[in-house]
Amino acid sequence: MPPSTSDAIAREAQLNERYVREWLGAMVAGGIVEFDPVWKRYRLPAEHASWLTREASPNNLAVTAQWFAVLGGAENDLVDAFSHGRGVPYHAYNRFHEVMAEESDQTVVAALEREILGLVPGLTGRLERGITVLEVGCGRGHALAELARRFPRSRFHGVDMSEAAIGHARETVRASGLDNVVFEARDAASIDMAGTVDLVLAFDAIHDQAQPAEVLRRVRRSLAPDGVFLMQDIKAATALEDNRSHPLGPFLYTISCMHCMSVSLASGGPGLGAAWGRELALEMLDGAGFTRVEVHELPHDMINYYYVAEGGESR
Ligand SMILES: C[S@@+](CC[C@H](N)C(=O)[O-])C[C@H]1O[C@@H](n2cnc3c(N)ncnc32)[C@H](O)[C@@H]1O
Repeated sequence: MPPSTSDAIAREAQLNERYVREWLGAMVAGGIVEFDPVWKRYRLPAEHASWLTREASPNNLAVTAQWFAVLGGAENDLVDAFSHGRGVPYHAYNRFHEVMAEESDQTVVAALEREILGLVPGLTGRLERGITVLEVGCGRGHALAELARRFPRSRFHGVDMSEAAIGHARETVRASGLDNVVFEARDAASIDMAGTVDLVLAFDAIHDQAQPAEVLRRVRRSLAPDGVFLMQDIKAATALEDNRSHPLGPFLYTISCMHCMSVSLASGGPGLGAAWGRELALEMLDGAGFTRVEVHELPHDMINYYYVAEGGESR
């Protein structure tokens, strides 16, 4: 909008003016919105809007800020967990899958073809010719739906233990008429696809598992001999002392304590935590039988490493 009064902004947003004006007070005091005290007009400079609005996606930083509300909603359960140590289950986090999907629209979906697929030489061509793809912990399935749209000759299978997230994923593909993708509500530690899958994907979905080592073993066993496992997971070192100067360190350990570690513990898991780190990830991939692993970083994604692992079942 051009510089506008709180009345005009509230009308445009169809919100209550008194609330909008108080919220604008916070934005002005924080230096995000400018205020003209004579005309009582507020202005969001274009250079601020360019990373703060949904129209700015995939550069909208405000998406990530929603985690404070999602995690804060589970505060009482988390405080109790500090005493009993048994974690906090997934269902305690209101809007988790909605916010997760919006964040991965930016870090995964928007960058799939431009950045992520290019990590595996020849993968785009293979997807175009037609291969079998499995995604573990697919959440609402946006990444897989995008791949299914882009590569109609390939077959896609998404697995997530959340019935609600899988319900959304099915709705998305039904609405778009895709017939080469299926979604299944299932524990990733029970997948059993014996050397039949060409590509397995896991986007931010291994460290908070109840049985991460078993999932990695099953992922490897599901791969065809020339199959590839592409795992996006948090960029950190395993040893705390090596994360002291990590620019996102406090944020990662906080998210981990308040969610990733807690959901794993709540389902009887080891609670690896978001900062399980590259060294442990490599050790676990090795333990699962992967024979060759490369670790990549991508310029659009400051939060994650991208592991490309090979070593599928020999026939
Ligand atoms: C951090 S979210 C990432 C979701 C999605 N990959 C994305 O990037 O938006 C982790 C996902 O793993 C799923 N998950 C956790 N444990 C699981 C299990 N044992 N089996 C299958 N899915 C699981 C959760 O339901 C959640 O959707």
